[in-house]
Amino acid sequence: LAQLTIPSRFYTDEKHFEFDKKQIFYKSWQFVGHISQVANAGDYFTTKVADENILIAKGEDGEIRAFFNVCQHRAHAVATGAGNRKLFVCHYHAWSYRLNGQLLRAPQAENVEGFCKGDIKLREIKLETMLGLIFVNLDDNAVSLKDTYPGLEAGVLSTRAGIEKMKVAFERDIEHNCNWKVSVENLNECYHCDSVHATSITQLYETDSYSCDIYGNFLRHFIARKHDRELHGDLHSWFIWPNNVVEVFPIHGAVSLRRVVPLGPNRSKYYYSWWVPESLSGEALQEVVALGTDYCNTVCQEDTVVVGCVQRGLESIGFDRGPLIVSTQAGAQSENAIAHFQSLYANALEAAGVDI
Ligand code: FES
Ligand SMILES: [Fe+2]
Repeated sequence: LAQLTIPSRFYTDEKHFEFDKKQIFYKSWQFVGHISQVANAGDYFTTKVADENILIAKGEDGEIRAFFNVCQHRAHAVATGAGNRKLFVCHYHAWSYRLNGQLLRAPQAENVEGFCKGDIKLREIKLETMLGLIFVNLDDNAVSLKDTYPGLEAGVLSTRAGIEKMKVAFERDIEHNCNWKVSVENLNECYHCDSVHATSITQLYETDSYSCDIYGNFLRHFIARKHDRELHGDLHSWFIWPNNVVEVFPIHGAVSLRRVVPLGPNRSKYYYSWWVPESLSGEALQEVVALGTDYCNTVCQEDTVVVGCVQRGLESIGFDRGPLIVSTQAGAQSENAIAHFQSLYANALEAAGVDI
């Protein structure tokens, strides 16, 4: 019997969305940025993990730290946007925090008996870096990044040495009118490429060359580019559970980084970006920017339309589960990676005692 997809209620209900947020996004390693965004002491940026506001900052000691972006006085945010600061000063009552999260000053606190500044810190979050990417995990007891994805770092480095030293060339946030799992599943199969991307992707790749290697919490898609294989090499797309992609692209050392951010049961944000080696400039850089822009306006646009339509179908009483095309013979047209993603999702459900 063919493997069936996860029942549609897991893609549509508020209850299951809460499950995904708390049991998956608050407990998994989330790619939130690149080390180039915090190159110097005092550099910071704000971001989100699901609905949690997060602050990433580089301290005077050179360490990159992550905090909940919540003042420990009465819960206002302590930072917005990105930039460089010596201190984070909360806009509400002007409490100030050092770059390491320690409270430095709270107006009038000296007049409060027993007020101990030294006890107050921004709540810190686990942060680790790999391949120049910054990952955070809201679970204090999480297994380390390296142990969660053993072999990932070496695998990516074998396809692109020196990947840590990059700068952003192109980035865009794309709204998807669907559950985050629909977005993730869509980017994990090329079964739809012939029909959805007939004039884009299928023109560029040798679909016969496709393979997919599964390694527990991550997997790799491989495909060869047509025509310019010798010049530019192949494409290796690494999917990192639950929602991140590092795509080593065969042009001018470019890498495409993506992540799917859950916004609601039927809404997600697809962060789509292209990165290049720090030293890339001039025409080569322009070529990558043009390619990223072109992909965004064609492939991403085509995907945005289908994922929205799938979500409406999942919300229909006319659908619950369907069979996946899981076959080693199917090549680029297989849904093996989706089957794997869904088995990881089923494991998360099982660990939390939820029945499918
Ligand atoms: S909430 Fe930040 S200073 Fe009061
Ligand atoms: Fe697609």
